[in-house]
Amino acid sequence: MSFPWAKHYEPKSGFTKWIDERLPLPRLVYGAVGAGYPVPRNLNYFWNFGVLAGAALAIQIVTGIVLAMHYAANGGVAFDSVEHIMRDVNGGWFLRYAHANGASMFFVVVYIHIFRGLFYGSYKAPREMIWLLGVTIFLLMMATAFMGYVLPWGQMSFWGAQVITGFFSAIPVVGDTIRIWLLGGYAPDDAALNRFFSLHYLLPFVIAGVIILHIWALHIPGSNNPTGVDVKGEQDTVPFHPYYTAKDGFGLGVFLFIFAALLFFAPNSLGHPDNYIPANALQTPAHIVPEWYFWPFYAILRAFTVDFIGIPAKLLGVLAMFGSILLLFFLPWLDSSPVRSANYRPLYRIFFWVLVADVLVLGWCGGSPATPLYVIISQISAAYYFAHFLIIIPIISRAERPTPLPNSITEAVLAKKGGTSPAHTALSGSAVPAE
Ligand code: HEM
Repeated sequence: MSFPWAKHYEPKSGFTKWIDERLPLPRLVYGAVGAGYPVPRNLNYFWNFGVLAGAALAIQIVTGIVLAMHYAANGGVAFDSVEHIMRDVNGGWFLRYAHANGASMFFVVVYIHIFRGLFYGSYKAPREMIWLLGVTIFLLMMATAFMGYVLPWGQMSFWGAQVITGFFSAIPVVGDTIRIWLLGGYAPDDAALNRFFSLHYLLPFVIAGVIILHIWALHIPGSNNPTGVDVKGEQDTVPFHPYYTAKDGFGLGVFLFIFAALLFFAPNSLGHPDNYIPANALQTPAHIVPEWYFWPFYAILRAFTVDFIGIPAKLLGVLAMFGSILLLFFLPWLDSSPVRSANYRPLYRIFFWVLVADVLVLGWCGGSPATPLYVIISQISAAYYFAHFLIIIPIISRAERPTPLPNSITEAVLAKKGGTSPAHTALSGSAVPAE
């Protein structure tokens, strides 16, 4: 397959020619996000979310760097330094609200990005590495967000740190030692605050590095698309620039509009009021809840209430919580169906939506008090979550009979527009339809 515009870069001005001959950066940009990068012509708006995640990370880094100029990572003054940012620093309220709500926007975007991948089978061959790097990014994001939430040193910061680092003491024999090592003491205090601040500053740059690998890996096979059918030739693609720069630009505008509405009109709606109370080691809040984006995993953690074959319930909860994310690493091999897109997988599509509902129910339970009813619902939903990946997916990927795939992306696009009649191919177990 040949993409002539990808191969031949012609500098447009003397200046870019001069740079390109000394440092081929213009060539790299042209091939990576310019007219030299062929992209399937049928990508829908769900393909905007990777770029939006990158934009969200950039916003977090820029606002975070300026916040760090005014923040003090010391247990005695951390809370006050945040109030100082809110009241005295020029535009400080804006920076802080942008950073706090930016974290929520980042997770919204990344959750949609992940579920897009699940729906269209973007984790399947030959894109496994993109997916594995994505799950790594997700883990790093969670660690970064957790440590960032500790920094304002409010009640929820302190008790969140207490609870989360407490999980590690559930590990047999070495657990307590690990917890003390993580905190730099027996309880969250100055040492913990300093190391969390240091790591919270460092990790976004590590994430940026992994994103470069993620996008590099993406450029090997190129993007998947809503049909899941491979690109068959030039007629199936359009150059990234100007087609997807324009589409991503529009998506970015909508994203910033929603972000601005949240930031200017409801900046505290996603936060917990208890975090406006300074940290107090002698007063435990009635309900310790993490930020909303951790709720599904928090529900899985709390779903374990009894010991099982000698393993303490707390350790089971911790293992299940980490397991719920780690099993995503194995997804490309758990799903053996050769068809990627759920559009052609009637059974998978149903279970996909059941999974979405299940994760929403888990999130609802994780954000609610651990009363017996919520715990029972969490237990059922957590069991379903694992069953989805470990039992349902492997079974339906073998048993399901997919609907016929289009012969090519172009054929699917034209069929949708009513241009030509789709010459559908009867599927005989292969993801590559007959020519
Ligand atoms: C900071 C976080 C992330 C950034 C900046 C990012 C960026 C991107 C970009 C720019 C793309 C290409 C555009 C698109 O397909 O939307 C992409 C594709 C992809 N990403 Fe991410 N990503 C992030 C996190 C993740 C996570 C957490 C996962 C999965 C667990 C993931 C899985 C994928 C997959 C499978 C593709 C290929 C999609 C396709 O071709 O259909 N990404 N990512």
